[in-house]
Amino acid sequence: MSYELEDEFGDIIKKARKGLNLSVEKLAQEIQISHTQLSKMETYSIKPTVEHVNKLSKRLGLSAKKLQLIAEENWSPKPIPIDHDSKLSVLRISNNVNGWPVHAYVLKCEKSKQLAIIDTAANPKMVIEKVKGYGLPVSAILLTHAHQDHVGGLSEIQQVFDAPTYIHRNEPQPTSERALILVSHGDMISVGALSIRVLDIPGHTAGGCAFQTRNTVFAGDSIFAGSVGNAFLSYDDLLNNIRKSILSLPNDTYLFPGHGPSTTVGEEKAHNPFFAEF
Ligand SMILES: [Fe+2]
Repeated sequence: MSYELEDEFGDIIKKARKGLNLSVEKLAQEIQISHTQLSKMETYSIKPTVEHVNKLSKRLGLSAKKLQLIAEENWSPKPIPIDHDSKLSVLRISNNVNGWPVHAYVLKCEKSKQLAIIDTAANPKMVIEKVKGYGLPVSAILLTHAHQDHVGGLSEIQQVFDAPTYIHRNEPQPTSERALILVSHGDMISVGALSIRVLDIPGHTAGGCAFQTRNTVFAGDSIFAGSVGNAFLSYDDLLNNIRKSILSLPNDTYLFPGHGPSTTVGEEKAHNPFFAEF
């Protein structure tokens, strides 16, 4: 595989179990396995059998076929070509926060040569260095949500690139050098010749959102390749908002999440076990 997925089998069943408000004991009892076995599956200490995958999928509302492929480590999304859209380019900036990889992105409008920074990856030094490397103006800083691994170091970035900074109106406001511009579903933000549309995807957080321009979506912690973000607010809302705002887009829409590999709407419909209906 060219990339490690953000979530493995154990993370997926744990997110679904917690989303349905089931304890390990209750779920184990319902599907008639020992709770020790289930705990070990959630922490990758034992591999599930096909029967385990089938039983878990049925109870958790996951796609057994898609979950089995991930359990066997037999799927990862195809890498996104660098020239996936002639009007724009995307640079991924990856950092490690407490051992967990997190991504920020730089979006470049190829026509106007203006940039947008999406999230901070809690590493302002790295973001500043990469953005300075372009030698181009930054016309917007876009924040998918206010978790520290996505907004940490915002002020330091703003001290170098004094650009309008956008966050969803329902999200807590991080420390900022300037007044944040509050946005909601359908609002449009210009970055040179590119129009960026705000997509509300509450569920991971109250004001978690994605930013879409042309066939490119910066998804934050809503959807990951083969998984979804932690549903800190509401599991049902998170899944339904992903369906409504992301999976309704054309299959060749490219998704750039806050964690894990980049993917497409088509790949996620075919391979994400949380969406059994496709
Ligand atoms: Fe997050």
